[in-house]
Amino acid sequence: MALRSSSFALCALNLFISLLILLLEPNRVFGSSRGEHFGFIVDDNIGADAGLCASLVTVHGYKCQEFEVTTDDGYILSVQRITEGRVGGTDSNRQPVLLQHGVLADGATWVLNPPEQSLGMILVDNGFDVWISNSRGTRYSRRHVKLDPKDRNYWDWTWGDLVMYELPAVIDHIFTQTKQKIHYVGHSQGTLIALASFSEGRLIDKVKSAALLCPIAYLSHITTPLGNIAARSLLGEKFMTFGLAEFNPRSKPVLEFVKLLCAAPGVDCYDLLTAITGKNCCLNSSTVQMSLEYEPQPTSTKNLVNLAQMVRIGKVSKYDYGKKSENVAHYGQAKPPEYNMSNIPRNLPLFLSYGGQDALSDVQDVQNLLEDLKFHDIDKLHVQFIKDYAHADFILGVNARDIVYNEIITFFRNSSLLKSV
Ligand SMILES: *[C@@H]1O[C@H](CO)[C@@H](O)[C@H](O)[C@H]1NC(C)=O
Ligand SMILES: *[C@@H]1O[C@H](CO)[C@@H](O)[C@H](O)[C@H]1NC(C)=O
Repeated sequence: MALRSSSFALCALNLFISLLILLLEPNRVFGSSRGEHFGFIVDDNIGADAGLCASLVTVHGYKCQEFEVTTDDGYILSVQRITEGRVGGTDSNRQPVLLQHGVLADGATWVLNPPEQSLGMILVDNGFDVWISNSRGTRYSRRHVKLDPKDRNYWDWTWGDLVMYELPAVIDHIFTQTKQKIHYVGHSQGTLIALASFSEGRLIDKVKSAALLCPIAYLSHITTPLGNIAARSLLGEKFMTFGLAEFNPRSKPVLEFVKLLCAAPGVDCYDLLTAITGKNCCLNSSTVQMSLEYEPQPTSTKNLVNLAQMVRIGKVSKYDYGKKSENVAHYGQAKPPEYNMSNIPRNLPLFLSYGGQDALSDVQDVQNLLEDLKFHDIDKLHVQFIKDYAHADFILGVNARDIVYNEIITFFRNSSLLKSV
């Protein structure tokens, strides 16, 4: 495999990265220059614009409301609710659905395609009450009761904190507003945080069913060359050591590193989206172009380090502080705790859809997850495998409606008919 044969190159790369970080003076403020790198719009000055509703939803004739949700650890998130579609009324007993994006993305994920191809709008037009969340640190969710994104402490979190604080806050908010149990749709990291929550018995009382696109739990088989090299060269750890607490994929320092990684043997970054997500079959290039205005979005370097640790150890594990004493201080044990996917309640209706070309949600890793779910109630677990799909097809695929979204709608309708337990 290209990856194995490149381990020499990896050592050289390691040294090079360390030197480069030193040279880059990470604490220096980079100007807000805009320019093209790999088609990404470089934007060091991410700030909220008109909001997600105004930018991508109301322009299509849908009604959309902006909410603020404050988590127990102080992050102020923006949450959108699409209240009315172009067809289908506003009847009061529409069932709420929460759409939770993945890492390095935000809520725009669900509304980037034209309305007839975007899951957000399709669900509304099918009579659902659609809620969209935006995780901490992304374009529309960069406020905190005390901290500023310029502070390192603002970025001191991993996806485990989304399990602890963020999802419960958003779900509680929707539950309070609608007084109904909620259907959940997650993509990528959005599936990981749901699975981890369910495995600890969290949210079960407020979630009616969950559709998981590109399910992520185990990560040890990812095939993305860029991700593998980054994970195995401890790139994230180096970023942290040198003070890059925010991982903004559109900032200059990060783009410089991506360029460097792309120079490694076996990595072809001609098309960066493919290098990261796999060979997507069904994207419309003009939509992809447009989506680069909105994605990718920042996350914390610490979160990426946690994910890289999972790539290396093959377990669904909390962040490893690297020192026994620090793990003990945080967790009361020497090793970071693991989430046990077998503990997901067996009667929770789950729909899993995964793709044969996905470089992040690898087929083997999904099989491992399914192995953990082998005792799940047979009528409550629906699994869909799409041979030609890669990671981005589930979000942006021109045929995702026919192949995936209609299945989700049927699944939600059927699980509403099931007796709740
Ligand atoms: C691709 O997107 C453009 C712009 O939205 C649209 O005009 C075109 O019809 C789309 N093609 C397909 C195959 O959906
Ligand atoms: C996970 O939980 C299952 C049953 O709930 C148990 O049999 C299994 O040993 C656990 N796995 C780990 C690694 O703790």
